[in-house]
Amino acid sequence: MRMGLIPGDGVGIEVMAEVRKVLEATGLSVDLTEYDLGGARYLSTGEVLPDTVFHELSQCDAVLLGAVGHPDVPPGVLERGILLRLRFELDLAVNLRPVKLFPGVETVLAGQTSQTIDFRVVRENTEGLYVGSGGTIRTGSPDEIALQESINTRLGVERCIRFGFETACAHGENPELMLVHKTNVLTHAGGLWQRVFDEVAAEYPNVGVSYGHVDAVCLWMVADPGRFHTIVTDNLFGDIITDLGAGIAGGLGYAASGNLSLQPGVPSVFEPVHGSAPDIAGQGKANPVAAILSLWMALTELAETEAADRVLRAVETVAPDTVKVGTALSTSEVGDMIAGVI
Ligand code: NAD
Ligand code: IPM
Ligand code: MN
Repeated sequence: MRMGLIPGDGVGIEVMAEVRKVLEATGLSVDLTEYDLGGARYLSTGEVLPDTVFHELSQCDAVLLGAVGHPDVPPGVLERGILLRLRFELDLAVNLRPVKLFPGVETVLAGQTSQTIDFRVVRENTEGLYVGSGGTIRTGSPDEIALQESINTRLGVERCIRFGFETACAHGENPELMLVHKTNVLTHAGGLWQRVFDEVAAEYPNVGVSYGHVDAVCLWMVADPGRFHTIVTDNLFGDIITDLGAGIAGGLGYAASGNLSLQPGVPSVFEPVHGSAPDIAGQGKANPVAAILSLWMALTELAETEAADRVLRAVETVAPDTVKVGTALSTSEVGDMIAGVI
């Protein structure tokens, strides 16, 4: 099995060192290649993601990424040049982001538990406002105009919604799928999403379906998270609500994700939801659990079920202690504890 590892920037480098430890502890035979991409390489060589590196990554069975984004590099250069390039050019159609509170981890929400905070978001991953369509004219003048267009294709929307239904069905006896959008304002894109959702829903009579406007969904995630089973939504809404999801499920240190390829032979890219966290980088304060759970998602996708289960059990065992990361425990101590119980 061939895996590519991109630590990236900031805490990405710290948490991926722990992922490496945990992967080694599983005893799996993995041909692991580390790729030096991110702010340091860009600042010293001007390279973001050379085509040769992109090609090698595309030949892997899976790619594990820490985070990209550097305070000395203009916003977007690394994020679009590395992460979004991988998502777009590998055509990683959906981003699966579990929102799960582990027993022993505290939530900021009074009265909520690991029973009620347990759902998943299927985020469209190659379209919407992320495409980069648009531009500016009369740039820098008082008459400047900036356009940033949301691109929604029937193909992209439908494959995401279908994946949403399949994901709901894969979780429990009473699957439910909620479409989250803003159809009351974004009538063009929202209309397409709602029509495709309704059409595909007819093929899944066993799945309970509902619709939520994204603003109300933000409220419900805080006031009544137990109402969610599986959410399907567009790229930007998915980005925003999954940071909120992390916020209610112990913080970004617990939020994992998989940018999933739907094509055989093309690798998926697994990464924590969080970024490079310059505010805590280099201090051993980052929680490595989100990155380790992203490894769990990778092993699950690669059908390494036994190793995946061991990683999940190890995280569950150590979960109550992980809340001390950044205070009584360091990033590498938490990684050692998890690797130690694999
Ligand atoms: P961020 O996710 O890096 O940090 C947000 C907050 O969460 C910060 O207070 C940070 O300290 C905290 N945090 C993040 N990861 C944590 C962890 N593992 N343990 C404990 N606390 C953690 O978001 P940001 O500050 O908006 O962005 C910083 C940089 O990261 C930017 O350059 C941004 O573009 C980039 N970014 C990259 C990715 C990615 O590579 N997937 C994702 C998000 C942001
Ligand atoms: C994420 C990040 C990325 C996104 C950025 C860094 C491009 O916030 O993975 O959630 O917006 O998708
Ligand atoms: Mn995000």
